[in-house]
Amino acid sequence: MAKINENYLKLKAGYLFPEIGRRVRAFTEANPAAKVIRLGIGDVTRPLAPTVLKAFHKAVDDLGTIDHFAGYGPEQGYDWLINEVIEKSYKPLGVELKTEEMFISDGSKCDCANILDIFAMDNVVAIGDPVYPVYNDTNVMIGRTGEADEKGYYKGIVYMPCTEENGFIPALPTTKVDIIYLCFPNNPTGTVATKAELKKWVDYAIANDAVIFFDAAYEAFITDSEIPHSIYQIEGAKKCAIEFRSFSKTAGFTGVRCGLVVVPEEVMGTTSTGEKYSFNKLWLRRTTTKFNGASYPVQRAAAAVYSDEGWRETKAIVDYYMENARIIREGLASAGLTLYGGLNAPYIWLKTPNNMSSWDFFDKLLTEANVVGTPGSGFGPSGEGFFRLSAFGHRENVEEAVERIRKNLK
Ligand code: MLT
Repeated sequence: MAKINENYLKLKAGYLFPEIGRRVRAFTEANPAAKVIRLGIGDVTRPLAPTVLKAFHKAVDDLGTIDHFAGYGPEQGYDWLINEVIEKSYKPLGVELKTEEMFISDGSKCDCANILDIFAMDNVVAIGDPVYPVYNDTNVMIGRTGEADEKGYYKGIVYMPCTEENGFIPALPTTKVDIIYLCFPNNPTGTVATKAELKKWVDYAIANDAVIFFDAAYEAFITDSEIPHSIYQIEGAKKCAIEFRSFSKTAGFTGVRCGLVVVPEEVMGTTSTGEKYSFNKLWLRRTTTKFNGASYPVQRAAAAVYSDEGWRETKAIVDYYMENARIIREGLASAGLTLYGGLNAPYIWLKTPNNMSSWDFFDKLLTEANVVGTPGSGFGPSGEGFFRLSAFGHRENVEEAVERIRKNLK
């Protein structure tokens, strides 16, 4: 009989969001009249920007013509999209990138997982706690860890607690690590990092020959001009950082699927015999072998995000969500809750009232207020006692959810 990958058996729970979905389904089946408002998973609700939709339609029509039909594209993405992102999104930050350093994909979640393919198994990995579960679980799946302890920490991973005390920004590891996951603006806590903060990490990575995986999926939600959008705004980062970006939250592509990875040519690793090798070359090799590129219409739609009109419309959608974030923040703060995030980030991270556990608060809100959020403990042990609300809902639902939570707290 074929043998299974037993690393999967080490995983303690099902993936967080399907588990939430299961509980919500059980509740709605038992209470069909309940009008449940979902502010759990960070899934967008606004339709695609009209200019983006038009480009998407046109590209689909292209596929129906002999002259404009597109078959396999370049596995790493079309130059016209890559160059548009570099020109419109990186250059204004003062970041110069080569076309060959950017890879277009079908989404950032897969990229964050797949990148592990090009790193040796004996690298020591550091991740935040709480954290986007994909970073942790994919390291377990690939076999980099031992079993989890009773708290949920897997042997072999260096966890960096992000707590109220440290402002949800982890301290530098005290032991040597080789790979560091950073996500700013942060999912789940909504924390942002200043340039000075990121500089500490870049300096650490350079001093320790480590590589930073910088997840910038939420950079479009930054409104404060002092907060960096890209790790490459920090001197030296091109030597030590791989950056992930996503069109999911920025442009409403959660269902469309498009993301990108930047692997600068200067980011080097070594072979077991000490020869230096460029991760860019390995990632290109992996991509051309295991991927056939994001679809042509999707890449056309993504490129339209960066047209003048497309960007104006997309920005208006981002602003809509940030207004939701303000409504949640102010509405719940005035009801006495302690909360973080929601500024420069679409997630609000709140402290559960009366020291309730995250899942108890989840159940209470679901059953009494019919509002769904995400239990903080689902993102890691240090998330216990916290709860995440997403600002990606419809405005009237967000307003009603805030009212219901306020009433529920009385
Ligand atoms: C979240 O809610 O944390 C995100 O939607 C998950 C994701 O982007 O995969």
